[in-house]
Amino acid sequence: MAPGKSYELTPVPQIPGVDYTRVPIEQFKAAVAKVVAEAWDETPEKIFAGVDTGKKGADLAVAIPRFKKGKPDEWAKKVLDVFKPDNYLSEVKQMGAFLMFQFNQESFTYHILQTVNRMSKAAEANPEAKTEAYGTTDEAKGKHLLVDFSSPNIAKPFHAGHLRSTIIGAVICNLHETQGWKVTRLNYLGDWGTQYGLLSIGFDKYGDEAKLLADPIHHLFEVYVAINKDNDAEKARFNAGEKVDADNTIHAQAKRVFKAMEDGDPKALAQWSRFRELSIDKLKETYATLNVHFDVYWGESMVSPESMQRAIKICEEKGLTCEDRGALLVDLTKFKMDKAIIRKADGTTIYLTRDLGGAYDKYRDYKFDHHIIITAKQQEFHFKQLNKTLELMGEETAGKIEHITFGMVHGMSTRKGTVVFLSDILSDAKDAMHEQMKSNEQKYAQVEDPEGTSAIIGSTAVKIQDMTGKRGGDYTFDIKRCTSFEGDFGPFIQYSHVRLCSVQRKNPNVHVVDSADEINVSILNDPKIAEIIYHLALYPEAVKNALKFREPSTIVGWCFRLSHLVGSAWETIKVSGASEAEAQARLFLFIQIRSVLNSAMKILSLTPIERM
Ligand code: ARG
Repeated sequence: MAPGKSYELTPVPQIPGVDYTRVPIEQFKAAVAKVVAEAWDETPEKIFAGVDTGKKGADLAVAIPRFKKGKPDEWAKKVLDVFKPDNYLSEVKQMGAFLMFQFNQESFTYHILQTVNRMSKAAEANPEAKTEAYGTTDEAKGKHLLVDFSSPNIAKPFHAGHLRSTIIGAVICNLHETQGWKVTRLNYLGDWGTQYGLLSIGFDKYGDEAKLLADPIHHLFEVYVAINKDNDAEKARFNAGEKVDADNTIHAQAKRVFKAMEDGDPKALAQWSRFRELSIDKLKETYATLNVHFDVYWGESMVSPESMQRAIKICEEKGLTCEDRGALLVDLTKFKMDKAIIRKADGTTIYLTRDLGGAYDKYRDYKFDHHIIITAKQQEFHFKQLNKTLELMGEETAGKIEHITFGMVHGMSTRKGTVVFLSDILSDAKDAMHEQMKSNEQKYAQVEDPEGTSAIIGSTAVKIQDMTGKRGGDYTFDIKRCTSFEGDFGPFIQYSHVRLCSVQRKNPNVHVVDSADEINVSILNDPKIAEIIYHLALYPEAVKNALKFREPSTIVGWCFRLSHLVGSAWETIKVSGASEAEAQARLFLFIQIRSVLNSAMKILSLTPIERM
């Protein structure tokens, strides 16, 4: 606190749904609402909704025509006449149709820093709790969210779509946790269907036990490609008029094996379950590199036959079905959603049947309040059909399943070729980072664990590239660009965090104070600091908006902006060489900035590093 000063805030009306102790800027907005409401004889709640941040030239602004018709000057005058500066606001001006309010900057700085500090201390003291840090609330306490994401297919490459689902999914989960949701992360593996019959035959022909154990994902894919090639060749011969034994084509055999699997034949299942287990072990390693984890590895194979039969029966009983060449379909033509197969002519199930039965199983096991499934846009129609069918069936899960989609990734390929394996992408990113780091020999020599560090920055680069644009948009994957230290790429965010950490490390003699009460806040009187404080003040809103629109890019944008603001302040806001009071105040500021950046990075599922 500046000597002899108090930043005590007088009571303002409580606006429903906002928590001043967690989000101080709301209290400052309420102060604006109070004075305007009194002058205009309105309710503070009504005005509060129209107190805007981000207006150029004002800390907080009110657009007069939003509330009052007639001459803005007259309405403005009513406010100007009664306004008195206090610990919230220092002045108000009229600018055209706007009332422009300025914070009492010192008091505002104090309250933001104090809140960040208080909350980050509480979070550190209780690392398991997710709703202690600045930017969190516990509004959704008691609610349970189930998120089905990543969900790759065994024996097929983990493609760009799965990568996006993994990256975005992790952030969607983290975002919900910041508001008190209990989140269960579920990986719904594509591990069922005729293709596993095909894989089984393929493995008998091309499988290699040692290769399988060494690298199951690559090897199973190799086998899958080989057997598919045979299958295609056979089809081509058939089409060319060659005679084939219809009962013994590769396709017919694969169907038989899959049928045996669905019938629970232990022999058919034994091999499949090994493939599955080995693939999961390998996936877990890769997810760990991405700092992503799952509570449950589930999958299409785990959907209970009873639930699927149940769904089929309800559809039939409710008159939702029709038949076509032995197959059973739900008729959604009335809703412009075509007809969708739920049972094939040979009696086996299909993706949709499994999602219908799966909805029941997942609800039975997790009793979620909300369920999110994340996949590429291409599956939009499938989930429309699913949700419509659940609704027509009158299921409890109807209306609880939300499909979150994303755009395409172009140009993803690795050094090894065009088929993309996640592990290869990550190792490419890591190598690219490692090269970058080596180019600064001096710094490189100081990094304790260059391998580990480059892996983390590499995965940061891949993730940030993915989340910089809105999730609905496409982007072009470019390993070279995204690992660059120059520009708005992942490494820049890590670099800013490192730099914020290094201030404290490089100034071991500066006392780290416990609270904003122990610093002279008037020292932090610099327009650059004011901008940073303002940006910190907006962080809780950024988190809420990211959650509301399911948009990780909002947090990424927030991090970039903060990194730029801090980047341009280093020269003016020095800790080394400053007086004791200055050094303490500034270090305290940097520590709070670091703590908010750290939280934001964790929401983005990044591992914030301290040295690079
Ligand atoms: N395995 C699917 C795919 O690769 C994604 C599964 C998404 N989840 C679901 N419940 N259908 O396209």
